[in-house]
Amino acid sequence: MRQLPAAAILATLLAAPVAAAAQEAGDKGKGLDLALRVCANCHAVAEGETVSPVDAAPSFEDIADNPGMTGMALSAFLRTPHRTMPNLILTPDEISDVVAHILSLKDGG
Ligand code: HEC
Repeated sequence: MRQLPAAAILATLLAAPVAAAAQEAGDKGKGLDLALRVCANCHAVAEGETVSPVDAAPSFEDIADNPGMTGMALSAFLRTPHRTMPNLILTPDEISDVVAHILSLKDGG
């Protein structure tokens, strides 16, 4: 019983930096720029593009239109090494920028 609050506080502390970074507004122009350089080999990254070069890679519009997709979920995803995206390492700024770009494609932009 006594350990529950401590665990809750720890969880909050651990989650806080991620949440703060996710809420920080990125620069979507820079995000598009980065996406064109780093992500476009596999993903359709720009507005109006729906067919990705790599079949298995969802277009950024599809990612954005996924109702469960939030800036926080995206940032968390991009911070984690991903099996199909080897060596994809972005700085926190790059993550905010690319997340801002992806979220700007929401609602069939
Ligand atoms: C080498 C090819 C490749 C590159 C480069 C790449 N991706 Fe991916 N990505 C994939 C594939 C394939 C998937 C889908 C399969 C999977 O999730 O494992 C994916 C999945 C994702 C997802 C998850 C979508 C979802 O609905 O869960 C996100 C977000 C994403 N990529 C973002 C990016 C961003 C941002 C970049 C550039 C910074 C990038 N990717 C670069 C191949 C790539």
